[in-house]
Amino acid sequence: MAHFAPTLVAWQAEHGRHHLPWQRTQDPYHVWLSEIMLQQTQVSTVLDYFERFLAALPSVVALAAAPQEQVMALWAGLGYYSRARNLHRCAQEVVARFGGEFPPTAAQLETLPGIGPSTAAAIASFCFGERISIYDGNVKRVLSRLLAFDGDLSGGAANKLLHAHAQALVVGSGQAMAMPRYTQGLMDLGATVCHLKAPNCGRCPVREMCAAHAADEAARYPIKTKRIKRTSERWYLLLLDKGDAVWLQQRGDAGIWGGLQAPLVFSALADMARWLQLHGGMLAVSGPSQVSPISQVFGASPELQALQLSDLVQPTIKHQLTHKELFLTPVVVPVAQAAGPLGVGEAGEQYVGAWVDKSQLAQAALPAPIKKWLLAAG
Ligand code: ADE
Repeated sequence: MAHFAPTLVAWQAEHGRHHLPWQRTQDPYHVWLSEIMLQQTQVSTVLDYFERFLAALPSVVALAAAPQEQVMALWAGLGYYSRARNLHRCAQEVVARFGGEFPPTAAQLETLPGIGPSTAAAIASFCFGERISIYDGNVKRVLSRLLAFDGDLSGGAANKLLHAHAQALVVGSGQAMAMPRYTQGLMDLGATVCHLKAPNCGRCPVREMCAAHAADEAARYPIKTKRIKRTSERWYLLLLDKGDAVWLQQRGDAGIWGGLQAPLVFSALADMARWLQLHGGMLAVSGPSQVSPISQVFGASPELQALQLSDLVQPTIKHQLTHKELFLTPVVVPVAQAAGPLGVGEAGEQYVGAWVDKSQLAQAALPAPIKKWLLAAG
């Protein structure tokens, strides 16, 4: 196995990817940003976002000082918004704790928000030549095949062992200069040759060393007995529409759309109706000849209100996430131009949100499926 690292490095030089913008730099800010964006998102999608983000916030100091809304708006559409909130916090910690320079070791990088062991290893090896192995899905696939590793990677013990194997395989101690290329080689081999479904062993530079290939069993690895569970949920979205503007809630930090602006979400129409009754005090609904408070327009009982709301239901949008299948059903409630802010709730809670002019929606920090729908709906 001593040949593994040099063979991979030589292969990367000739056959790997070299033209991605974050590969032309060892600037930790750029590398870190790309690694966070690439965690759950395809390279082709990240390319645009990466350039736009750096144009707006060219340094970690600029990111640390930026308002959260700007960071969320630059991230909107990439999904997994906790990444953006952690990104912002991480930049602030890099400034506060490390004087605005990313620390050079994976051990220190891991102490920062949003940087897990594999991302820390990627940054440390790419930017500082630390001899430390990444351990992501690509590595698990490549190495479980290389070693015909029979441990079940849905469990912790097997991962610990395979991670230790990964660490033992990195370039030798005199070769730290080759670490960036080695790390990129692992990623490139996993992404372009050692595919999950149909590994292209004919093009693999390390097939002579590969135990799974020798047994003609590459597709048997990695072994993972537990599949991800996918649940499905229906969300009703309340779109209060006053013609030139819609009302959007500023969501708290938790959950899949944390930190973004979005229509209010309900799990049943009756809940939405009850909410309108309770909180829509300042919202008037425009009829053909009159303007009435929402509580008068929608009838007294939640059942009746739900029935009335069902006339306003729009076609459902399906939105697929890794662990969840979301069925999003917009409900458009037209309200009068003069409608004010939302009412104060029973417990005195004030809904945090704002009327957002329709001309501003393209720039707003909205979840991708909502933005698409709103822009199409006009
Ligand atoms: N995925 C995560 N990091 C990557 C990188 N540096 N190049 C390509 N894909 C990646």
